[in-house]
Amino acid sequence: MSLLNVQNVSKKFGQLAALSDIHLKVEQGEIRALLGPNGAGKTTLFNLISGMFAPTTGSIHFDAVEITRQSVEQRVRTGIVRTFQITEIFKELSVYENLRIAVEADSGISLRPWLSAARKHAVRRRVEELLDATHLSGKAYREVGELAHGDQRVVEVAMALAMSPRLLLLDEPTAGMSDHETEHMVQLLRQLHQEFDLTILFVEHDMHLVFNLAERITILDNGRWLAEGTPQEIAADERVQAAYLGSNAA
Ligand SMILES: Nc1ncnc2c1ncn2[C@@H]1O[C@H](COP(=O)(O)OP(=O)(O)O)[C@@H](O)[C@H]1O
Ligand SMILES: [Mg+2]
Repeated sequence: MSLLNVQNVSKKFGQLAALSDIHLKVEQGEIRALLGPNGAGKTTLFNLISGMFAPTTGSIHFDAVEITRQSVEQRVRTGIVRTFQITEIFKELSVYENLRIAVEADSGISLRPWLSAARKHAVRRRVEELLDATHLSGKAYREVGELAHGDQRVVEVAMALAMSPRLLLLDEPTAGMSDHETEHMVQLLRQLHQEFDLTILFVEHDMHLVFNLAERITILDNGRWLAEGTPQEIAADERVQAAYLGSNAA
């Protein structure tokens, strides 16, 4: 049984068919990339999986439960977590405070000022565990808005981890990063994948990054499923080469 099973999904925006008859199965523990030229429908598929919109037709199952029309909040509770955008994070608060808020929200205790000392201690331990896992301990008391771009993107990942994801969704996790920051993020994602037994689905148009990180790759082109396979299989696929020739994607 696949952890994520997207079947015959289509999405129309008015007359525009952003996605047509897409299928996608992701297994527990996999690192999967969703690759394709600009406008291929990657972010739209991502939005359907995370619950931002419902598909026009088709179904989505997570861990054998149909989630096609569940809200974002319901999906987060079952473990489908998309990285927070930095715009959703309190930039004027420290990394630590942001994570504390996220951990309290995850355990449903943010509205209880009478929190016991034991619960407070448990929250602090969890925040420290997240800081440690993402190598942010040394920056815990810095304001998020003052951090370098690459570190802010790591905070996005740490905030998502606070929601205890089983499936972590990342949309272009290294967009706008320097080579050094990109390498750091790739290492971090590999490490988190192992450490937390995470299944990762990431959207990316940088071929190099995809081949470096993904175990399997699914290619979309112009709203349609084009190909799927290991990096080696994809590199050798003529349909993929044809889709990328004549487009300006990397
Ligand atoms: N909310 C929306 N409303 C209308 N059209 C949209 C919306 N989101 C995406 N689209 C359109 O759907 C197509 C696929 O877009 P998108 O999923 O963002 O592609 P990608 O992420 O692969 O670049 C594009 O033609 C885009 O303009
Ligand atoms: Mg996109």
